[in-house]
Amino acid sequence: MRAIVVSSPGGPEQMTWTEVPTPEPGPGEVLIRVAAAGVNRADLLQRQGHYPPPPGASDILGLECSGVVESVGPGVTIPTPGGPVVALLPGGGYAEYVLAAATCCVTPPAGVDLVTAGGLMEAAATVVSNFDTARLDPSETVLIHGGAGGVGSFAIQYAHALGCRVLATAGTPDKRDYCRGLGADVVLDYHDAWWDEVRAATDGRGADVILDVLGAGALEHNLNCLAPDGRLIIIGTQKGNRGTLDIGRLLARRGTIIATGLRGRPPAQKAAICHAVATRLWPLYEGGDITPPATTLIPLADAARAHELLESGASHGKIVLVA
Ligand SMILES: NC(=O)c1ccc[n+]([C@@H]2O[C@H](COP(=O)([O-])OP(=O)(O)OC[C@H]3O[C@@H](n4cnc5c(N)ncnc54)[C@H](OP(=O)(O)O)[C@@H]3O)[C@@H](O)[C@H]2O)c1
Repeated sequence: MRAIVVSSPGGPEQMTWTEVPTPEPGPGEVLIRVAAAGVNRADLLQRQGHYPPPPGASDILGLECSGVVESVGPGVTIPTPGGPVVALLPGGGYAEYVLAAATCCVTPPAGVDLVTAGGLMEAAATVVSNFDTARLDPSETVLIHGGAGGVGSFAIQYAHALGCRVLATAGTPDKRDYCRGLGADVVLDYHDAWWDEVRAATDGRGADVILDVLGAGALEHNLNCLAPDGRLIIIGTQKGNRGTLDIGRLLARRGTIIATGLRGRPPAQKAAICHAVATRLWPLYEGGDITPPATTLIPLADAARAHELLESGASHGKIVLVA
């Protein structure tokens, strides 16, 4: 088979479309003929050498895909060969074939074409697992940072569908319009003092739940606009790993900080999350409550171009590689 291989850590020019051995499914595994693979910000970090795959995972990039089951390993009864699937992967998606745990394969949502479905799983799994951990309630106000991104554009729609009041941040006027179109009630320019605007938009109370992709650089401001009993969920560190936490402020708000990474979760947790995606989120697509994000399609062999586009910050929604 052919796959995108990163010859050495660095820029997109290190990515080449290369002949590699086709993997064989072992016990509990499924071999998928890839139709499409979603591009995630983590892929950029892995390409640069800053985000190694977990032990045992493929070192080929790619955390999600859609495709058709080619064959299954010992003990696998579901899914079956020939069936369409969407899969959450520990790696390997930027290839013509990829191995997935059978428990991380689900049927695509009805009415969404297989290529578009290739970019749905990672964001859906990230958002549903963290909103569940935070016990997000429909009566609450949620702030979504990076609302126009792959994760953010799903999070806005899902929180809106739940009935929450949704605040979001984005960097440009067109991206703020996009967030409004997804269902955000208030959209803020992240170049401004968004923490003041969050308080102003909530009568001084703040957001009950904040989904943060920035990390250290936004920690203080996030705490400044967290409501009493609020939950700050940190899923990204685009503005740094190490920050200073004002414990007194957190304590006064009876606040909780949650930080999770999806890729390194134990298999049973990933299986439960994929099941939640299929049983609770796919019906939202099927009922028209949410729609796939704006999707930019790029041929898999041109994955370097997809990385350049994501790194430029010019895209919104999801970039999907088509096999
Ligand atoms: N922990 C996990 O399990 C997990 C899983 C998936 C993703 N993630 C992380 O979640 C983040 C988003 O992933 P993605 O795939 O959705 O990436 P993406 O599509 O590239 O989105 C990144 C977002 O960050 C926003 N952003 C950049 N600078 C910002 C700032 N100063 N203030 C507010 N927002 C800012 C961008 O906003 P504009 O486009 O408006 O500039 C963009 O919407 C990444 O950090 C990724 O590593 C974590």
